[in-house]
Amino acid sequence: MVCIEITPNIYWNGLNDRTSDLFEGIWPITKEGVSYNSYIIADEKVALIDLVKGIKTDDFLSQIEEVVDPATVNYVIINHMEPDHTGMIKTMQKIAPQVTFVGSERTKQMLEKFYHLNTNFKVVKTGDTIELGTHILEFYDIPFVHWPETIATYERTSKILFPCDAFGGYGALGGSIFADEYEDLDFYKEEALRYYSNIIAKFSRFTLKAINLLKGLDIRIIAPSHGLIWRNPKEIIDLYERWARYGTEPESAEEGVTFLYASMYGNTEKLMGSVAQGLSQEGIPVKIFDVARTHVSYILPYLWKYRGVVIGTPTYEAKLFPPMAYVLDIATSKRVINKEVIRFGSYGWSGGAQRDLEPRLDKLKWNLLEFFEWQGGPTLEDFQKGEDLGKRFAQHLKNFN
Ligand code: FEO
Repeated sequence: MVCIEITPNIYWNGLNDRTSDLFEGIWPITKEGVSYNSYIIADEKVALIDLVKGIKTDDFLSQIEEVVDPATVNYVIINHMEPDHTGMIKTMQKIAPQVTFVGSERTKQMLEKFYHLNTNFKVVKTGDTIELGTHILEFYDIPFVHWPETIATYERTSKILFPCDAFGGYGALGGSIFADEYEDLDFYKEEALRYYSNIIAKFSRFTLKAINLLKGLDIRIIAPSHGLIWRNPKEIIDLYERWARYGTEPESAEEGVTFLYASMYGNTEKLMGSVAQGLSQEGIPVKIFDVARTHVSYILPYLWKYRGVVIGTPTYEAKLFPPMAYVLDIATSKRVINKEVIRFGSYGWSGGAQRDLEPRLDKLKWNLLEFFEWQGGPTLEDFQKGEDLGKRFAQHLKNFN
């Protein structure tokens, strides 16, 4: 793509990444891609806001050249120093040795550790400003959205907020950089929730704090460093606020069930259908995942938003089936807490999964309502038990509030 003007003299200068398989080395983006958005403000002084991952260096520099000579850049604002936004930092310093990097005190320290650079660095904190000419940058500390050093930059004249990871999402940009130019935003909204649950969710308390801080500003446009630019900022602020509340006010979670199952030889899978049938008959939305065949990245958005979880898992060598244990470990790490849960599963010669599961659920503050196990293949009676269990769980969820 080429540089795109957002408002007079403010340009999107981002890169679409459609060839990386994993974001942060863990989250799949093979099909969806991701964008790293950088912005140019070309005034009497020239500022770049956030850089990009260290890919497509020539493309990135050529795009800057469409607007200004990269050697004349005065400031590079480092809202967040994670390498998907600073990968180009050594290149920028070589091209423009006079450039002043701008960020929080912690950014300065972390940049030194990550890149071993001696830079001109200006430390800013909430309320500090830099005048570029007619454009004035204002800075706000928003720690832990996503890392502890993060700041957001607000440009007073255009009323654009540049919040880096906050309000971002996965998904390479498919033709337009503006959300309001897409007829159907479902893909980007789903990918924003997947991104939120993978990357930001653990820091939901900090996200709400940041939203409260930034809501006081007169924001016309939100220009994050991943995903679409929002000229109707309320749309993405409301989504992020809702998602952050799922993590801080569990009662706000949606009525629905994330149905996790795994099966070695099909005996637990057979009951999966019966339990799901019981839930569906009662009108509860159910999203089913075979955890051995689905990357946890795609499971997390449902775990995050739905109140109910069904765990269908066999015993494996006297413990929980390993792919199920992995999903629960990631849920613990991402602080997916306060869920209502049922469990079922088969065992071969002795149980053990249940004993392994219970302390994990305690850590997650997941409320286990009922479970049942059987040896070997399920009987007709077990199928009925599974359906009845699903129905009782649905009733419980409907009566929750
Ligand atoms: Fe997009 Fe936390 O980096």
